[in-house]
Amino acid sequence: MKGLVFRLWIVLALTSTATPNMVPAHKSQIDTCMDRLFESIQTSQVQQETQFIPLWSFYKQRGAYPCYMKGNFHGTFDQALLRNKLRFFDNNVFTTSYVMTLLLEAFALTGSRKPSEEHVVLGIDSFLDYLDKNRPYNHSILSFWPLKYSQTKQFWQANPANTLPYLDLMELVPVKQVASFFQSLGFKDIEDFLEYFYADRKENKKLLFLPPDQDTSSVHIAFGATLRSLRETFPKAWLRWEGRNPRKSTVLEAYKNYSYRPFSGDTDSNSIDPRTYFYLREFLDEAKENGSDVALITTWAQTLTEQQQYSSKGSTMARGINNVCLGVTANAVLGITRALISGLFEESLVAGDPLMRQIYLNSSTLLAYQLDKNLTGRPDLALMYYPTRVQFDWMVSRTVAELESARRRQGYLSPLLQTVYDTLVPSARGSITRRLMNSVQRDSAAHAYYEDFLGAADVSPFGSPIKTGEDRIFCTALAVNTLVNIWTHPVHIVRSTETATHLAWDIATPSLVVETVGKAIEWLVHNSLSGHFKPYGAIFSASYKWSRTLPYRYPGNRYQFLNGTEITPWSRYPPDHLTSYMVRGYIPPSEYQVLLDNDQFGQPVPRDFHGFNADHTKYMWYWDSEPFTYSVSLLALAKYSSILDEHTPGN
Ligand SMILES: *[C@@H]1O[C@H](CO)[C@@H](O)[C@H](O)[C@H]1NC(C)=O
Ligand SMILES: *[C@@H]1O[C@H](CO)[C@@H](O)[C@H](O)[C@H]1NC(C)=O
Ligand SMILES: *[C@@H]1O[C@H](CO)[C@@H](O)[C@H](O)[C@H]1NC(C)=O
Ligand SMILES: *[C@@H]1O[C@H](CO)[C@@H](O)[C@H](O)[C@H]1NC(C)=O
Ligand SMILES: *[C@@H]1O[C@H](CO)[C@@H](O)[C@H](O)[C@H]1NC(C)=O
Ligand SMILES: *[C@@H]1O[C@H](CO)[C@@H](O)[C@H](O)[C@H]1NC(C)=O
Repeated sequence: MKGLVFRLWIVLALTSTATPNMVPAHKSQIDTCMDRLFESIQTSQVQQETQFIPLWSFYKQRGAYPCYMKGNFHGTFDQALLRNKLRFFDNNVFTTSYVMTLLLEAFALTGSRKPSEEHVVLGIDSFLDYLDKNRPYNHSILSFWPLKYSQTKQFWQANPANTLPYLDLMELVPVKQVASFFQSLGFKDIEDFLEYFYADRKENKKLLFLPPDQDTSSVHIAFGATLRSLRETFPKAWLRWEGRNPRKSTVLEAYKNYSYRPFSGDTDSNSIDPRTYFYLREFLDEAKENGSDVALITTWAQTLTEQQQYSSKGSTMARGINNVCLGVTANAVLGITRALISGLFEESLVAGDPLMRQIYLNSSTLLAYQLDKNLTGRPDLALMYYPTRVQFDWMVSRTVAELESARRRQGYLSPLLQTVYDTLVPSARGSITRRLMNSVQRDSAAHAYYEDFLGAADVSPFGSPIKTGEDRIFCTALAVNTLVNIWTHPVHIVRSTETATHLAWDIATPSLVVETVGKAIEWLVHNSLSGHFKPYGAIFSASYKWSRTLPYRYPGNRYQFLNGTEITPWSRYPPDHLTSYMVRGYIPPSEYQVLLDNDQFGQPVPRDFHGFNADHTKYMWYWDSEPFTYSVSLLALAKYSSILDEHTPGN
């Protein structure tokens, strides 16, 4: 009954519209907070390279913004300790290009806190190490990790410089003795972890040699497009980036060459990770019924045929098969949209290319479909690499804001962009907004905040819950950005001295949205730099989160070695790093149901999801980045203060 009343209240609140009337009570506090965040982000960029020395220092690449790889240990005291202290500095182009993009966006809005051109150029220079140097032509296809040349394999390999050596080190260190030492101190969990890490070291090592991926390339393209729009203010940085990317449109070629096309007859295109098929199947069933074709963006820039060729050289898709992650899809849709609107890509590259056009449209349709279906209740599979739910909402809202802004500025959108706008806006204003209104929390000062799973499931020695809210700053900032992206638009005000952009709430904005954003901003102003909460947040994770997220737990119809040789019967060889297991082609619902009801490799199919802190989630790896958290916080405040300016007479 209580739940029903609450839901009714939400519906009422969502349907009553507000005349926005914001009082800029915190203008100076917000400015101070933005100054401090900006300072903290800028100074965190690595200015001097440092070398890897085991147990002493990490390799830190010049120009990179800091990012750490951690495990989602949770529960007892020593688990919490492992989560926060056992961390590996991770150099990746993803974090650096995202942070720089967000800094540029905040600057474009407020006209102040301009990132120095030296900082931006330093970041761009670091990108060179990530280009896939195994391709003998000019391109913009990037790997998540820096590439190093292997003399023995005569091949450029991408792997994490700071984690891999520890796996090697395990061969030299008496791991068993170290583990029992920890056990003798009462740290049973640390012992468990060391034993696990040791037992799986060979397998884990194989999983760390990855091909380039569409996600990294998309995020890099979005950065280039953002920089292009600001090229008059950052001429040196723009020239540097443009000079380094003479054939940017190869990113579109990769979307096409590696696309998932379930109804095609080509096994390189119609084979997919069984986890993807599980959450995607209802969409495919509907498409099949409608007689619609489907082409979607995958994660890895590698086909099964290429994998046969390159896996022995040190480049294998994780788990040996490609997948469709909705987070990767959302980043790609933003990358394409921003590249078209900024003029980085000519629109004909997408509108005039049937397959590329289809991929862009089908991807947008899929995002809306899944948002409206609550990701079929399986965010652990649908968001293969993005465990923080509001981050996905935010990624979609960025495209909505980009299109709304272009629509207002030009007075129209091209038919292609208008179709994407019409597809995404209803889900953003409907499903995303409803979810965010339902998941908001209030602290004792009645400020609004959001959180996800980090630091939400620890317990004291007496068994009482301890909530450290380690991703509250991250999630709250993302939620503010999302709501503002969905419900505001830029307004053009002619004032001779101003460079700032102003935002205005849409006339149809529910009052609850305006109120929530205001209260979440108050929470951020009070807490983002207070030291009470950690600036953590899982910006990214491995596909494996718990044993129930392994591909062979889900129905598939083809099992083979990486070299392509089919394995029959399946019981002949247990799944490992030499095998790939997949769904090939389309499986009609009645056949799929039979597979669902049967065990897969001796185990039942996991039907539901109980959160990332449910049992057995100990060894889920994720990435977090303080400058990333602070950049989304800075952008949230920048967006909000742009609305304030608009409604402050005489400001
Ligand atoms: C790559 O582009 C550069 C600059 O546009 C050009 O000089 C070079 O010849 C190109 N290389 C290849 C392999 O096409
Ligand atoms: C895509 O495939 C075409 C045709 O095989 C090839 O010429 C092109 O180099 C490929 N591009 C990329 C980026 O994979
Ligand atoms: C199938 O067609 C119906 C009716 O036109 C439409 O509402 C639905 O979105 C389509 N489904 C897919 C997955 O395209
Ligand atoms: C995918 O795009 C193509 C081309 O625009 C379209 O014909 C097809 O219906 C789309 N499929 C879905 C499921 O939306
Ligand atoms: C959406 O899915 C999540 C995760 O499975 C679940 O916890 C939540 O209750 C679902 N929400 C709705 C409105 O069904
Ligand atoms: C493929 O790989 C498996 C396992 O490594 C091996 O047993 C088999 O002989 C290989 N087949 C071919 C044709 O190379």
